[in-house]
Amino acid sequence: MCGIIGYLGYRKAYHILINGLKKLEYRGYDSSGIALFHNNEYNLCKTIGKVSDLEKTIFSKKMNLKGSIGLGHTRWATHGLPNNVNAHPHVSNSNELIMIHNGIIENHHAIKIFLLKNGFFFKSETDTEVLVNLIEYLKIENKSSLEEAVRISLNEVIGTYSIAIIEKSNPETVILAKLGSPISIGIGYNEKEFFIASDPISFLNYTKNVLYLQDGEMVILKKNKKLDLRKIVNNLKISPIIKKLKINLKEIEKGKYKYFMLKEIYEQPKIILDTLKSRLFISNEIIYINGVDSNKEIFTKTKSITIIACGTSWHASLIGEYLIEKLDHIPVEVEYASEFIYKDPIINPKDIIIVISQSGETADTLSALKLAKKKGAFVFGICNVVGSSIARYVDAGVYTHAGPEIGVASTKSFTAQIIILILLAIKLGKYRSTVNKSFSQFLYKELDSISEKINRTLELNTTLQKVSNLYYNYNNFLYLGRGIHFPVALEGALKLKEISYIHAEGYPAAEMKHGPIALIDEKMPVVVLATKNDFYEKIMGNIQEIKARKGIVIAIANQNDCQIDMIADHVINIPNICDIFSPLLTVIPLQLLAYQIAFLRKKNIDQPRNLAKSVTVE
Ligand code: G6P
Repeated sequence: MCGIIGYLGYRKAYHILINGLKKLEYRGYDSSGIALFHNNEYNLCKTIGKVSDLEKTIFSKKMNLKGSIGLGHTRWATHGLPNNVNAHPHVSNSNELIMIHNGIIENHHAIKIFLLKNGFFFKSETDTEVLVNLIEYLKIENKSSLEEAVRISLNEVIGTYSIAIIEKSNPETVILAKLGSPISIGIGYNEKEFFIASDPISFLNYTKNVLYLQDGEMVILKKNKKLDLRKIVNNLKISPIIKKLKINLKEIEKGKYKYFMLKEIYEQPKIILDTLKSRLFISNEIIYINGVDSNKEIFTKTKSITIIACGTSWHASLIGEYLIEKLDHIPVEVEYASEFIYKDPIINPKDIIIVISQSGETADTLSALKLAKKKGAFVFGICNVVGSSIARYVDAGVYTHAGPEIGVASTKSFTAQIIILILLAIKLGKYRSTVNKSFSQFLYKELDSISEKINRTLELNTTLQKVSNLYYNYNNFLYLGRGIHFPVALEGALKLKEISYIHAEGYPAAEMKHGPIALIDEKMPVVVLATKNDFYEKIMGNIQEIKARKGIVIAIANQNDCQIDMIADHVINIPNICDIFSPLLTVIPLQLLAYQIAFLRKKNIDQPRNLAKSVTVE
């Protein structure tokens, strides 16, 4: 949530900030702002709406674009409505301090009352304005440097933050600090310039040398000087560890696609091949997952596994539950991270907790992981973003390596997570002798065919366009599935909700009779996952029940299924695959259906309203 950007160097800051903000918009896009510093003065512009609206406002106001130092912010509202006043950067009462912030200051109310009593005033409803004024108060009161005032203030606040702050009269020094929310620094040419961002993809054009600030750290950046990294709590100096980013610029461009989401859907066959190439060696019958190999004993002996995640990653976790229970006979619990933290969970030392997160920054998942570690569990992570907070905190883990996912609605990272869960389940099955040689050979063969089958499934896009044309104006959709297909139904409904704003529910098909059936009429399209498996006849029964109530059935079925042709209104025929791997295929038409419907409804597919790609607040 919220993207922060900054620059301190010798180039014109404006373009770096605006282009960087555009790359950070996936983190929040309800309002944005920038401040440019020049000759001990600053120019500020803030506006409701997207970064493109900010650009328009800047030009209509003829804002002075001079300056090689600046801060920028794109917001996802937590405290206060999205509007010009609540947008960042925020300025202290004296106009001396200018700050951007990502996170939540939980004790902002008490601090605000204290500051009000001391003569301060507030223009916005934000917690950020409270923090910047606390820093100002302490700076004046203690007659201290900005650096000192930031440190003392941050030792007083409760909550999460990544901040960047500049003093108008001394703009060649920028101070950053982090607790909970991500912030990175790009070290530019000759170490004479610094790029600041919530996500380094926004400064990738300029440098690949990055310092990821860790929790409890602050850094003082001065023009033409080496960065000065310190601990917030005691001001102790720390040696920075600069990493080299491996992301390719092409990965963060849309290319020939109108939306990132469509590009990411079409990337899935390649991602599956890439993931398998480095992990599955069929001729030697080896699955290589370093974090599992080096903890073989824990995985072999465990009596249960808990998987924790949010959103789409939670749906992948439910698929993981089916896979691990089926192949390894280990009981699995799946928890929403946000619920797990507050239920006083029973965790025993050496219990296995798996956390799954695309971004590796989801605040609830991160808190759950910290709690599990505190209670002595062994925490294994499945993350996409390399070097993310979750990836750094876990005891061991595996990267999905799906590449940067920019569309807010998750697609390719979901399939990549499932592939990792499949490999994990087969590997544990071999450790625990629940998967024998002939079964594993069969599974490897099936895995080997998935990429090509996803390619064939993507060819169904034209059929899905036609179906979408018929129903894109409908107000409600129901998605049904049984067994391992139930989480796919949840994911299909989530995709539609997220990007088209149509009300959609995912349900276990048999549960339909206990409620949703009351909603079915000729205005209710029902998407049914009806591939051939042990429940096929049961699902056919459910389809009959829908048709008897005049519902519209869009069935996802296997090729050459004549039986379903007779009763469903539309049949999307996907290639055949063994049932436990079929979510990798059945989810594809659901992603495309959601995309096509949102496209016809003229929605901003990559940046749906109210959502953010990375939810870094609880
Ligand atoms: C947000 C995103 C979802 C994502 C969820 C969990 O809500 O909009 O697409 O599934 O966070 O994110 P994570 O990065 O932890 O997988």
